[in-house]
Parts: sequence; C-alpha cells; structure tokens
Amino acid sequence: MLLIETENELRTHLASLLEKKQLGLVPTMGALHKGHASLIKKAVSENDFVVVTIFVNPTQFDNKEDLQKYPKTLEEDLKLIHEISQGILVFAPSVEEVYKNKVQSKSYDFGGLENVMEGAFRDGHFDGVGTIVSTLLKMIRPNKAYFGEKDFQQLQIIRKLVEIEKLDVTIVGCPIVREPNGLAMSSRNERLSKTLRQEASLIYESLVTAKEKFGTKSAKDIEDWVIKQFEDHPDFRLEYIIITDVDRLLPITKKQHDKKYRAFIAVYANEVRLIDNIALN
Ligand code: PAF
Repeated sequence: MLLIETENELRTHLASLLEKKQLGLVPTMGALHKGHASLIKKAVSENDFVVVTIFVNPTQFDNKEDLQKYPKTLEEDLKLIHEISQGILVFAPSVEEVYKNKVQSKSYDFGGLENVMEGAFRDGHFDGVGTIVSTLLKMIRPNKAYFGEKDFQQLQIIRKLVEIEKLDVTIVGCPIVREPNGLAMSSRNERLSKTLRQEASLIYESLVTAKEKFGTKSAKDIEDWVIKQFEDHPDFRLEYIIITDVDRLLPITKKQHDKKYRAFIAVYANEVRLIDNIALN
C-alpha cells in the first residue's frame, strides 16, 4: 500500500500505471467501516488497480460542528485498507492541496435532484459533493468509481454530475452494509451511545415495514405510519420520511408499475443525524 498526499506525487504514480487496463476509485472521507470495506473489496475485484481517497471535504458540511466532530482515524483506515489489499494507492491530501487558497464549491444544477431530502435540509451540501467528486474524478481519471447506496441521493447526483461534465467513468452503486441490528453502517454510528445504537434499529425496522406495506397502502399512509413510530420516542427526532421514484427523486403521486420507488429517512438520534433508505419494489 502506498500513501500519497500531494497531487504531484499522485500524477507521477498514476502516469506509471497508465499501462494498467482498469483503474477503480473509491472516494471516502475516512473513518472507514465495513461499508467502505465492501466498496474497496468490490473495486479490487473488478479492477487492475485501485485508488482510495481519504479527504474530509469541508465544502459539503453546512454545520461547522459536524465538520469539526467528523472522526479522523487515518492509522486505522490505512490498516483496514492494507488488510484488503497491499496494492492499493491511498490519496489523502490536505484541504490546501485540494482547494489551494479558495475553499469554495462550484454551483451545480442537477436538474432538481439536489433540492429534495438531504439537499433541502443541508444547505449547499451537494454543491460541495459535486465539487470534490468532480475534482477527484478529473485528477485520478478512473474507469470505475464506487459509491454506497446508503447515500442514494448522492449516488444519483454523482451519476448526473458525470453526465453534465461528460466524464468518461462508470459509476458503480453498492448495496448498504448493516450492523447486526439492521442499522446502516456509518462513521456517525461511533458517536451513538451503546443503548442508542441498539435502539436505532427502529430506523431500519420502520423501512422494512414500509416496504411490506407498499403493496397495499398509499405512500401517505405509510409515511404517516413511520412518523407515528418516532413520535413518542424521547431519543429520536424524525426529520423526514419520503417515498420517491428513484430516477428523479420526486415524491410519489400515483404508483406506476414501470417505475422503481424507494423510501428515504433521516432521523436525529440525540444530536447525531442518521440517514437510510430501502428499495420498495
Ligand atoms: O460519501 C462520502 O463519503 C462523501 O460524500 C464523498 C463521496 C467521499 C465526497 O466527499
């Protein structure tokens, strides 16, 4: 495994890999867990060479405290990557290296995908994501780039980004990896108390029941039912539960048989914000 921190070094190493047929990229913000491990393993199995980036991107945080509290665990991350494969190149640049002296995101029009759910609750979030993902894709020029379906809205936005910027890369979406109680793996789970981490199974359980109800109940009935599950819970605050189609992420009006739908949820467990989603059909 090779750790690189500057764009110049990165270019030199990538140039020496030009003859390799297939390059895979797994962009991360570090604090790696089994969800990331599954992306890296998939990338390793599908490519001749893999680059993992570790960069806590400041422009995608609308909340300063959230950014400050974001866990930084480089040593453990490198160990996890090394255990998967010793041939991986890790690019872990500083903020200055990526943004030079202008820590600012570009402004994107993702055709409305950016205005709902995470975009509605986290100001400028997807401009920040678009900016860093575009920068990394242009710097590294992978054939394939891997993203988790836990951030399904992000995944669809990155697909749109690639279309808008005409980037020659295949975006690979990977299934959500869950803790034994169903809670979606996330770096934020580390910030939950043991009890809350256990109780947070309610998020996935609600989604599973929503899926069961989807065949017979209306979206409104299902959303109301989920709202009720969280209403009286002292430790949770439901931010949203929305059923949308997967392509445009618009709230469902009338179910159409040829369309795919998902339920999306965001919940505060005390001050820790958790998101999850499930395919309904
Ligand atoms: O999903 C993440 O970890 C981040 O949003 C990403 C894609 C690495 C961009 O900073």
